[in-house]
Amino acid sequence: MPDTNLRIGYGEDTHALDEGTPLVIGGVKISESTRGPQAHSDGDVLFHALADALLSTAALGDIGNYFPPSEAEFKDMNSKRIVEKVQELLLERQVRMVNMAAVITLDKPKLDPYRERIQVSLVDLLSLSSPRIGLSFKTSEGLAQGYIQARVTVLVQRSEE
Ligand code: C5P
Ligand code: MG
Repeated sequence: MPDTNLRIGYGEDTHALDEGTPLVIGGVKISESTRGPQAHSDGDVLFHALADALLSTAALGDIGNYFPPSEAEFKDMNSKRIVEKVQELLLERQVRMVNMAAVITLDKPKLDPYRERIQVSLVDLLSLSSPRIGLSFKTSEGLAQGYIQARVTVLVQRSEE
């Protein structure tokens, strides 16, 4: 098998939306939204999909293995903690992110006005420059008005020992 220090990862997350719940994407509150995710934690789909994408690069399972939804400790948790924990696991293995690309599907509201804020939030968390953080927003064309979904691919590189 040809060896390379590069690994690709993929993750996704979906939550149903409820009226009167805050919507947070990539650590940024979407103040225009009247609806937010039904979730045990803060339901940040972008952080959850990103964490799973990172874990998948090293076949480390998924976030449920580290943050079981059944544990009260993780109720309403800031999902930034999940990404930080996953980054620690990768750093222990000398693995660093090269870039990420995310697609968020949501019918309303428009997320384009929040793109830069979400990028800045990710830059702070990931120590990755903004040109390495691709964010696309899509509607479902009305086919799935009751949910939000994030899909994320990442490329990571392991340093030579
Ligand atoms: O889904 P659709 O292709 O119709 O989306 C058109 C454009 O609207 C997208 O390219 C994106 O820039 C923007 N959009 C957005 N926020 C959403 C969905 C789409 O800003 N929630
Ligand atoms: Mg379209």
